Amino acid sequence: MGPEPRQSERDMVEMDSVIAERSGTAIKAAEPAPPAPIAGLGSGAVELRGLTKRYGEETVVDDLAASIAPGEFFSLLGPSGSGKTTTLMMVAGFVRPDGGTVLLDGEDIAALPPQKRGFGMVFQNYAIFPHLNVFENIAFPLRARHWAKEAIGERVTWALELVRLGRFADRDARHLSGGQQQRVALARAIVFHPPVVLMDEPLGALDKNLRFEMQVEIKEIQQRLGMTVLYVTHDQEEAMSMSERIAIMDHGRIHQVGSPGEVYERPVNPFVGRFLGEANLIQGTVMGEAGEVVRLHLPSGQELRAPRSNSCGNGRGMLFIRPERVEIAPGTTAIGDPGANMLAGKVRRCSFLGNILRYAVDLNGAAPITVDLQNAAGVSPLPVGTPVVLRWPVADSLILWSGD
Ligand SMILES: Nc1ncnc2c1ncn2[C@@H]1O[C@H](COP(=O)(O)OP(=O)(O)OP(=O)(O)O)[C@@H](O)[C@H]1O
Ligand SMILES: [Mg+2]
Repeated sequence: MGPEPRQSERDMVEMDSVIAERSGTAIKAAEPAPPAPIAGLGSGAVELRGLTKRYGEETVVDDLAASIAPGEFFSLLGPSGSGKTTTLMMVAGFVRPDGGTVLLDGEDIAALPPQKRGFGMVFQNYAIFPHLNVFENIAFPLRARHWAKEAIGERVTWALELVRLGRFADRDARHLSGGQQQRVALARAIVFHPPVVLMDEPLGALDKNLRFEMQVEIKEIQQRLGMTVLYVTHDQEEAMSMSERIAIMDHGRIHQVGSPGEVYERPVNPFVGRFLGEANLIQGTVMGEAGEVVRLHLPSGQELRAPRSNSCGNGRGMLFIRPERVEIAPGTTAIGDPGANMLAGKVRRCSFLGNILRYAVDLNGAAPITVDLQNAAGVSPLPVGTPVVLRWPVADSLILWSGD
């Protein structure tokens, strides 16, 4: 188990118990539907409108807006403290917004307490009940909703199979591995067929291999059931591999929303570019836009080009290029090519990362450039100090502006 859950997380664990105790009338169970996929077509649309949360002087979620489509896997991705959990807690109903609202299928749910919002939830610290066995953990939300015994048996068996824990029904929950506990938490979150599931770093405590396995499982289950998932993570690879769309957050604001390809290839600012992986941001002065390309003058006197489309204005800017788009070859002369940017430099370092070789190349008077080379057959590292020419397509370059 991970560290002690925070109060909010404990509240969540206790939520079902509260439902169980109080809800004689509140959530009088809908009769158990058969254990088939469910999340009604067209339901599970979540809209965040101007969500705002302040703690003291600090605005930790700042006028946040997003529309999540039914059946969409939508991730909030951002560094620690950027407001992801607070946002999710406002959606769940555990934290009251200071401004803005949350709509579920077009209805404002501000007045509804968490247990009436009908979301499934999975959190980092598993939050399974240690005193119950696996079956009873998963059955909990159904018992809380007063399902009939038979229907509970049927549905829990279905959920156990879904998370591949069929043989573990009688197992004491305390005697499960981290990954198994995580699957119990997942089964419990989906057993009542919620149209929307909220997940906050659900895989944070798992090792890399298990994380990857669980990512695939969660994604498959989400697709099979057609659930809307609002997912919180600070792991960019996880967000990119699982999501239809990602919102990149920092300081309580969304910098950019888009498909993994869009946010990776076309970041709107240096923060997004850097956050989603390795990025070269080459500083220079952007010169007047003539024709199809924009020119960036480096302090060394060299010039780089980018398509004109994304940029406007002159002044201090940066050219963004991903390390895997840059070719590296021994040599000293950068011969002109209308379609490519070229720079001459010297190998400063070559790191072996298994599937890639990562070079740092010193340029004349500028920050080193990172180049990733596939570790293909026949590739051997260039020695430190080797003069090299770097080359990449103008079309893959982007001008980004600092200060945003
Ligand atoms: N109850 C609270 N009282 C005061 N400040 C809070 C409270 N909850 C969160 N914060 C602050 O709000 C900011 C956003 O916190 P939040 O937990 O939403 O970040 P996060 O993006 O989920 O980060 P992490 O990746 O570390 O989980 C932080 O600066 C945090 O200290
Ligand atoms: Mg968090």
